[in-house]
Amino acid sequence: MDDNVGTGGHVPVMLERVLELLAPALAGPAPVVVDANLGLGGHSEALLAAHPALHLIGIDRDPFAIEFSTRRLSPYADRTTLVHASSGDLAEVLDQAGRPVIDGALFDLGVSSPQLDEAERGFAYSYDAPLDMRMDTSQELTAERVVNTYPARELARILRDYGEERFAQRVAGLIIRERAKEAITSTKRLADIVRDAIPAATRRTGGNPAKRTFQALRIEVNAELSALEAALPAALDALTLGGRVVVLSYHSLEDRLTKQALTARTKDTGPPGLPVPLPAHQPRFRLLTRGAELPSDEELARNPRAASARLRAAERIRVDD
Ligand SMILES: C[S@@+](CC[C@H](N)C(=O)[O-])C[C@H]1O[C@@H](n2cnc3c(N)ncnc32)[C@H](O)[C@@H]1O
Repeated sequence: MDDNVGTGGHVPVMLERVLELLAPALAGPAPVVVDANLGLGGHSEALLAAHPALHLIGIDRDPFAIEFSTRRLSPYADRTTLVHASSGDLAEVLDQAGRPVIDGALFDLGVSSPQLDEAERGFAYSYDAPLDMRMDTSQELTAERVVNTYPARELARILRDYGEERFAQRVAGLIIRERAKEAITSTKRLADIVRDAIPAATRRTGGNPAKRTFQALRIEVNAELSALEAALPAALDALTLGGRVVVLSYHSLEDRLTKQALTARTKDTGPPGLPVPLPAHQPRFRLLTRGAELPSDEELARNPRAASARLRAAERIRVDD
């Protein structure tokens, strides 16, 4: 991301709805919000503009996202703390920022437009580039390492679980055969291998067959699900009474984890049949969305990348004594 990129036509997903859902929680005299996926800072900028007293803590594991957002949000520099970290370390980030209690949290999961569009980062099957896919370019594990060193069973599991690839075994099998001839180092070679592994009849439907494998590798390289498993509960625990969380997810595994984390906290956990519900068992949160909300047709026409977005939100209605 350089200065010339601007915001690259990037449109924050479901922006109006995100602002609307968070607004009641950010109406106090000195509200604090965490943007756990700062990216290009689009949602953050809108939140800072809408709430003049807001302090925003922005987290991203991609150093380029931090660099870019630091410039973009410079008019609000005195009200922002931007941190290069994984959201998996959210509790530590809040502690270090001296703000262990927050009023709002936003998760806009997945990859950013520049990560997809900058060919050399190796996220996209549509460009030929080194097989990288690291959001945090200082970490060691790359997609190349996964593809060339993981055992067949582990590869197949990743492709099936993270990519929902029906032909996970076949794709993993062909990867193992091909890498024995020569290390697989480019996105194009991997995309060709995936295409060859998928039966011809299936190839004709459902878009580029490499999509699922690339998604799976990206999730593995960046440990995306374990980060979410740590980050979302940490954010929920940090929310004050009346505090709100909004989560935008882009594939079913993220959405499932989100749904589980939210519904677990919106249920009465007491034994059934108690005459008086015990406070300790009463729900700490209420859902603000019915199921998952989807972007409008009008938004999809403007921003095709919003296509897979699912939004869920909740509000803290009880704090532990
Ligand atoms: C969809 S983009 C966010 C876009 C942002 N809301 C905006 O309006 O510009 C997702 C961002 O989350 C970051 N990310 C993904 N997983 C992360 C994690 N575990 N910790 C911190 N950042 C993460 C990515 O690097 C990417 O920049």
